[in-house]
This record gives sequence, C-alpha cells and structure tokens, in this order.
Amino acid sequence: MRVLLAGGAGYIGAHTAVALIEAGHEAVVLDDLSNSSAVAVERVGRITGTTVPLVIGDAAEDAVVAAAFDDHGPFDAIVHLAAFKAVGESTQKPLEYYANNLGTTYALLRVGIARGIRSFLFSSTGTVYSDPADLPFTETSTTSIDLSNAYSKSKRMNEVVLEDVARVNPALSVTSLRYFNPVGAHPSGLIGEDPTGIPNNLMPYVARVAVGSLERVGIFGDDYDTPDGTGQRDYIHVVDLAAGHVAALENAQPGYDVFNLGTGSPVSVLELIAAFERASGRELPREVLPRRAGDVAATYCDPAKAQAELHWQATRTIDDACRDSWNWQSQNPAGYASA
Ligand code: WQD
Repeated sequence: MRVLLAGGAGYIGAHTAVALIEAGHEAVVLDDLSNSSAVAVERVGRITGTTVPLVIGDAAEDAVVAAAFDDHGPFDAIVHLAAFKAVGESTQKPLEYYANNLGTTYALLRVGIARGIRSFLFSSTGTVYSDPADLPFTETSTTSIDLSNAYSKSKRMNEVVLEDVARVNPALSVTSLRYFNPVGAHPSGLIGEDPTGIPNNLMPYVARVAVGSLERVGIFGDDYDTPDGTGQRDYIHVVDLAAGHVAALENAQPGYDVFNLGTGSPVSVLELIAAFERASGRELPREVLPRRAGDVAATYCDPAKAQAELHWQATRTIDDACRDSWNWQSQNPAGYASA
C-alpha cells in the first residue's frame, strides 16, 4: 500500500513509517514540524534504506493535503497522527486544540475521500475511557466526552466524527486506534521520543534524569490504591505500537472499528524507575511529590480484540522499552537537535 502519514515526523509517526516500509509498503510524510523534526524523517530513510518524501505543511488545509496527493499520490490509505497532544497545554489552549485536532481530520477526510483512499487510520487514546470500574478497558468499556482535558475530548470528538463519516462512505475502512502509554524507541537509537522542553510524561523525564540533564524524578503521589501506592499505566513499546498500525491497515475491513493498542499489563511509577535503573546502570534520585491534578490511579487495557482481529499483540516488555529509551537518549542527549 502507498500511505500518507499525516504527522509522520513525530514520535509515533516515524516509528510507524519504519514499520510500514519494512512490511513492504510505501510511506510519504506530511508534517508541519510544529512538534517534530525533519531529521526524524531522514533517519527513517537511514533505518529502512529508502528516501521518505517529506511534505512540510498544515494538514488542516485542504490545499496542502491536495498538493500532497498531486505530488506524491495516489494513496491507498491515510494514517492520521497530526495532532497536538500535550494534556496540560490543552487545558490552557482549548481552542487551538479543537481547531487543530479536528481541523486536520476534516481536511484529511475531505481530500482523502475525494481522491479515493480505501482506509483511514486514526490515532486515538485510551484516555477516552471514563469509568475505572471497567478496568481492564475493552473497546466496549464506557467512554465519555466529559474528560479532564481538551486533548482527550478532541480525540473522543474525532471518534464521533469518524463513525458518522464511515456510515455514509460504506466502502471506506475507518479505524480508531486507542493508544495507551507509548514508550521506548527504535533499537537503532536513531529515532525516539523528543519532547520539547521539560517532559510531561514519565519515561522521557526519567531518561533525562538518567542522562544527567534533569536532577531527580518527581513521583506524583505514592498514596494511590495500587500495590506500591504509585500510579499504574499500560506502557506499550512504540515499535509494538507501530506494528499495530501495520496490522490495522493490512486487516482493514469496510466500516468503522476501534482497537485498543496496549499490553494489558499495568506497570507502576516505581517499577518503571527500577526498570530504567537496570537498563541504564544508573541510580536515579527521586522524591515523592503531591498528586498531579487529573491523574487516575491506574489505567490499562484488555488487548484481546486486536489480538483476535488484527492478529497483533505487544511482545516487548518495560525492560525492553527502558533499554531502547536509554540507548536513544544516550546517543541523542538533546534529541534530534543533537544531529
Ligand atoms: C504516567 C504516570 C503519573 C510524570 C499521558 C496522556 C495520555 C497519553 C499518554 C496520548 C502517572 C506519573 C509522570 C512525572 C510521575 N498521551 N508521573 N512523574 O498521564 O498516563 O498519559 O500520556 O494519548 O493522553 O495523559 O502519562 O507519563 O504523564 O504519567 O510520577 O514526572 O507517571 O502520575 O501515574 P499519562 P505520564
């Protein structure tokens, strides 16, 4: 298949591009580089021994998407990863988040359907699940639009749009992939997570402490109702996550569908820190801080549906993720800016 990766220069996008090419498909990246680097796309080329075209532009503009089709199409599928994704920032900038995270979907759908794509794959999130009593979350667990931040709300809103659009385009395959917590990096150490500024997420923060650019890990609360008192999450290795995208495209059926992409195995903050110490051989200073607003004690999925219908399952462990994250961070202390 020939695939247009909107947001393909980002963390998930670059790894998905590698997985697609290594599975024999062709990838073209459309990205505005607002939260990513062109270096990542060059490195995808190095890993796969190909040249991946990069179209720099705003996927929320129909003319930009149409030009990508004119210059690099036709495309069998669009993988839509073009969104702002910082939870905290989204509460401060709701309008920017709704405008971008929905505007990109509208433009990609309008042009993609007009140009005859067969599949549309959407990057969604496990934070749309709203009732902790449903754990482990399945695809039929309760979802809500009444979520804690504009980022997660924009993802749930996108899902509603996609389901309705699929209904009136019966030949089109539309799939939402609900990611849990993507972590790790490609084993080559050439591509990885490169957040701008101080990382909000745990794994990149821990990696920066291990490499010495941050002083200590702040543990946001150790009084949760979990075995060791710290928050539990379903950390999925980004290479497994990328493989899930390939499986979703290769097993696409007409109509709308949703799949959880996670491991099904919760890991706590303390367990992740211990795994990173094993991977890096470094002792990581830490301190317990107050809980972070909006955090839940635990979130993790039941990945059985993707296993059964996409013939996919995560195989990499939290130790694999810490090893690969440490390798990426060590080789690129300042991320892609190190290049
Ligand atoms: C993980 C755990 C924190 C940082 C976020 C987004 C979600 C999804 C994945 C896109 C929690 C604890 C964290 C730190 C800590 N993104 N923590 N100290 O919040 O589960 O999910 O990323 O879909 O939308 O919300 O990930 O990595 O921020 O937190 O103790 O410095 O680590 O309390 O228990 P989160 P996270």
